[in-house]
Amino acid sequence: MTPPAQIYKYDLRDSITKRRLVGFWRMMTGFRGLYAWAVVALGVSAAANTASFLVVRYFVDEALPNREMHPSIPLIALAFVVLAAGQGVFSYLSGRAASKTSESLALRLRNTMFDHIQRLSFTYHDKMQTGELISRSTSDVDAIRRFFSEQAIGIGRIIILFSINLGALLALHAPLALISVVVVPVIVVISLFFFKRVSDRYELLQEQEAKLSTTLQENLSGVRVVKAFARQDYERNKFEKDNWEQYNRGRNFMLMHALFWPFTDIICFFQIIGGYFLAATMVMNGELTLGTYLAYVSLLGWIINPMRNLGRLIVQMSTGMVSYNRVMDVIRQEQEALTTGSAPTNRDLRGDVAFEDVSFEYEKDNPVLKDISFAVKAGQSVALLGSTGSGKTSMVSLLPRFYDYTYGKITIDGIELRDYPRHYLRKQIGIVEQEPFLFSRSIRENIAYGVGREVSDDEVYAAARAAAAHDFILTFPEGYNTLVGERGVTLSGGQKQRVALARTFLKNPHILILDDATSSVDSETEDMIRQALLRLMKGRTTFIIAHRIQTVMHADLILVFDKGEIVQRGTHRELLAHEGGIYRRIYDLQSRIEEEVEKEIASVL
Ligand code: CTP
Ligand code: MG
Repeated sequence: MTPPAQIYKYDLRDSITKRRLVGFWRMMTGFRGLYAWAVVALGVSAAANTASFLVVRYFVDEALPNREMHPSIPLIALAFVVLAAGQGVFSYLSGRAASKTSESLALRLRNTMFDHIQRLSFTYHDKMQTGELISRSTSDVDAIRRFFSEQAIGIGRIIILFSINLGALLALHAPLALISVVVVPVIVVISLFFFKRVSDRYELLQEQEAKLSTTLQENLSGVRVVKAFARQDYERNKFEKDNWEQYNRGRNFMLMHALFWPFTDIICFFQIIGGYFLAATMVMNGELTLGTYLAYVSLLGWIINPMRNLGRLIVQMSTGMVSYNRVMDVIRQEQEALTTGSAPTNRDLRGDVAFEDVSFEYEKDNPVLKDISFAVKAGQSVALLGSTGSGKTSMVSLLPRFYDYTYGKITIDGIELRDYPRHYLRKQIGIVEQEPFLFSRSIRENIAYGVGREVSDDEVYAAARAAAAHDFILTFPEGYNTLVGERGVTLSGGQKQRVALARTFLKNPHILILDDATSSVDSETEDMIRQALLRLMKGRTTFIIAHRIQTVMHADLILVFDKGEIVQRGTHRELLAHEGGIYRRIYDLQSRIEEEVEKEIASVL
C-alpha cells in the first residue's frame, strides 16, 4: 500500500494561527471530504438506531393490542433487521473513514514535522534539546491524532445523535422533550470551566515529559561516561526526581479529570431518573402510551449519554490544543533557505577563498572570531593551528554556511558567500567533522552517503584506500557490508575517522575541509593518509585543522589562532624563523618530545 496522494500536497506552516480550531481545520486539507463522509455515515447509523425505537413504539402501541396476528408484523420484523444491519454497516463505514482520516493526518504531521526539523538552522538545533523535539514529534503529534480520531469526530457524532434523537423526541412529545434537555446548558458550562484547568495542567505535564525524555536520551547517549565515572546513583536520583515531578503533574492532570466526572454524572443521573419518573407518571395518568414511554426511555439515554461524552470531549480537546501549540512552536521556526541565492550554480567552484575582517558570534556580543582576514588561491592549502576553543571549527563552519558571519565579508571565487545557495555550497564543499557521526547502516552505505547517486564498488574502494580504511574494513567478516554502530560492530575512534574521510573523499568536493581529521590515527596511518591527501588536494582548496606540526607543515599558508584571532601567519619556514612566536614554541615542544621518545626507544633497544 502506498500513502494517499493528498499527504504530500500540503505545507504545515499554512496551519499556523492563533485560533487553534481554525488551525485544525486547515490541517485537514485534502481530507475534509472523507471526514465529512465519516460524519454523514455516522448520522445514517444514528438515524437507523433512532428509527428502531420508533418501530418499537409502533409495535407496542399499534400491533400488540390486536389479539390476532397484525398484518404488519412481518414488516416490523423486517424493519428491525434492516435497521440493525444499516446501523452496523454505516457505523463500520464511518469508523473506517474516520480512522483513515485521522491516521493520514497523523502520518502527514509526522512526515512534515520530521522534514521541517531537519531543515532548521544549526543555531536552532544548538539551543533546542533533542528530547524536547522527540517528544513534540511523537507524544504531541499523537495528541493531535487523538483530536482528529476521537475528539473532533466524537463531537460530530454527539451533535448528530443529539439532534436526531431530540428531533424524534420532539415529534413524540414536545413538552417532555424540552424538559429532558434542561441540564444540557449546565453540562456545557461545567465543561468549559474545566477546559481551561485541564489544559493548563496538561501543558505542565507535557513540559515535564519532554524534560524526562531529554534526561533519558542524554543518559543513553552518555552511558559510557556515566559508567566510567560510576555515577549511576547520581543519574538515578536525577531521573527519579524528574520522574517524581512527572508523577505529580500526571496526577494533577488526572485529578482534574476525575473531579469533572462526578459532576456531570450526577447531573445526568438526575436528568435520566427525573425523565423516567415524569414519563411513567404520565403513562399512569393516561397522558402517554406505553409504546411512547418505551421509545422515550431509549431516546433519552441516547440524548443524555452523548451529552456526558460531550463534556469529556471538550475537556480532552484541551490536550490536543496544547499539543497544537507545542508542535506549531517548532513549525513556526524559520527553515534554513537552501536554494535561494543569486550566485551561478551551474558550474563548479574554482576555490579562491577570501576572508575580509570577518567577525562571528554565536551569542550576541560574544564574538568567537574577530577580524579574520586572509586569502587563498584555488588549489592552495591552508592549515589552522591553535589552542582549543580558539575558533578554528567555528571559522570553517562559516564556509558551508552552517552559520552566517556577523560582520565582514567572505568571498568564494569573488562572489559574496551569502549569495550562494546553501545547498550548492554544501555539495561543493566536503567537510570531515571533528567528531564524525556514522549512521547505523553498512560501511558501504556510510561511505556512499554524500554522493546522492549509485556508486560502483570500485569508487567506494578507491575512496576507502585513500582514507587508509580499505584494509581494516576487509578484516571484518562481512567487509563493506558490515553494519556500523548499535546494530553492528562498534568502530574504534580511528576507524570511524577513516570511514568519515572516505565518505568525504568519495564526494569529491572542490573545497575540502578536514577538522582534526587524523587526530585519532597513529603516525604511520596518518602518514599514509597524508600521502593520499597530497594527491587528492591537487587542484582543490583545502583547509586542514590539526594540532601536529607534521600535519600542517606542508600547507601553503598556516594560520595560528588564539582566542578567535589570527596571531601568526605564513609558511612553515617563515613561521619557524620567527623565534619566540607561538608556532616556533609549539614546534620546539613537539620535536623535543619526539627526540625524547627516540632516545627512550634507543636506550631500550
Ligand atoms: N561555541 C559556541 N557555540 C557553538 C560552538 C562553539 O558558543 N555551537 C564556542 C565555544 O564555546 C568556544 C568557541 O565558540 O568558546 C570556539 O569554539 P571552536 O571553534 O569549536 O574551537 P576550536 O578552535 O575548534 O577548538 P578545538 O581545537 O577544541 O576543536
Ligand atoms: Mg574544533
